[in-house]
Amino acid sequence: MRAETVVCGTLVDYRGVHGEGCVVVEDGVIVGITGRPPSAVNLLDYQGQGVYVAPGFIDLHVHLRGLGLSYKEDEHSGTAAAAASGITMVADMPNTVPRLSTAKTLSEKLQALERRSLVDYSVYAGIPGSLEEASRLASMPIAGFKVYPSDLLDRFDIVRAVLDSSDTLIVVHPELPEAEKPLVESNSSRTMHRGCHWETAAVELVASLQPRARVHITHVSCPSALERARLAGFTVDVTPHHLLLQEWDEDCLFRVNPPLRDAHHSMLLLERLLEGMVDAFASDHAPHAVWEKSEPLTCRPGIPWLEAWPQMLYCLVEAGALGLSKYLWLVSRGPARILGLSGYGVLETGARANLTVFRPGSGRVLAPELSKARHIPYFMERRCMEVLATIVGGVVVYHEGVLTGKTGAVNPFSWREGAHQRLHREEVSS
Ligand code: DOR
Ligand code: ZN
Repeated sequence: MRAETVVCGTLVDYRGVHGEGCVVVEDGVIVGITGRPPSAVNLLDYQGQGVYVAPGFIDLHVHLRGLGLSYKEDEHSGTAAAAASGITMVADMPNTVPRLSTAKTLSEKLQALERRSLVDYSVYAGIPGSLEEASRLASMPIAGFKVYPSDLLDRFDIVRAVLDSSDTLIVVHPELPEAEKPLVESNSSRTMHRGCHWETAAVELVASLQPRARVHITHVSCPSALERARLAGFTVDVTPHHLLLQEWDEDCLFRVNPPLRDAHHSMLLLERLLEGMVDAFASDHAPHAVWEKSEPLTCRPGIPWLEAWPQMLYCLVEAGALGLSKYLWLVSRGPARILGLSGYGVLETGARANLTVFRPGSGRVLAPELSKARHIPYFMERRCMEVLATIVGGVVVYHEGVLTGKTGAVNPFSWREGAHQRLHREEVSS
């Protein structure tokens, strides 16, 4: 019998390099790992070419926009950009227009993702206005709730209630509402106004509520906040920009929340990462229109990353700072664990057949071609690997520079009959 899809190369996951071999896929699931390619309907054979076949990358913090913000990005353009970077699953943020904090807008958003996403997806609900709405949202196929600084001011009781619900993932933007000054500051004064004290204080506040939920602090930019979060037993991610860029650049392209820090802080953050204190990379891909990124005093915060970040952060591996296994933890298994998904981030029989095929090698980052956000602050910076193929649920979505027009994308939080029943929610203990 011919297998549905077979992908061969140097097999690797967070446990290390498993050697040359092939991943055999049927019905969206890995059904075997073999030494030689069996006969297959779709065969990608990169054996002996220095090409890695790894579990699909996951980005647990992206803004795909859509709905009323589709001029910035939408579910198709954003996930096309993700696929070109080997990202096989994204978790989307709820600060859309309208916000994803009612069952109605959330189902609209889920439908748009189902129709248009090229990669597996999930979405966080925004904090709603009532407890009734919160339990309606919690019963929908979401990854969890997202808490923004303004929620701590406007909806504190609901935040407290969701933090108190066990087996729910709460993703927290670590700044207090007081840090959200009007957008009339230069980048360096924003770095001061929105300083590390606000970030650490936000983590402290959440910890003081003694949450029963799983808490994840997204984009820690300060070592002090990171240390406080770990002490509280929260998971943390870091963005490429807080690791690679610094505050001194006044250009709008470098404006982001929390703001970029100085070289000392980004070095310390990198040090903590290399010490193993970080659970995942997450991009905070935040696309805006060109005209929204042009006016120095009022420009919108956010950096679009989806077409470049895994390739750029691989330079840490190339430089010998980060082991390949640790990199694969941070881009794949780590985010899967935070999201509570087994069967993701690992190459083994029974796992979801999401795969990223890449070849180490140095090059330059060019302007994005698939995301609607074309202006980036890292144009012509170095990248250290090239994505050759992206496979989602056994379907080749991206292959050597081309989107194939096919996808096997699912929302793993939707309980479905058939193959996807093999995807289990996983209890996360750390
Ligand atoms: O820089 C940012 N941009 N930080 C956020 O928290 C929101 C994001 C956006 O939605 O543009
Ligand atoms: Zn964000």
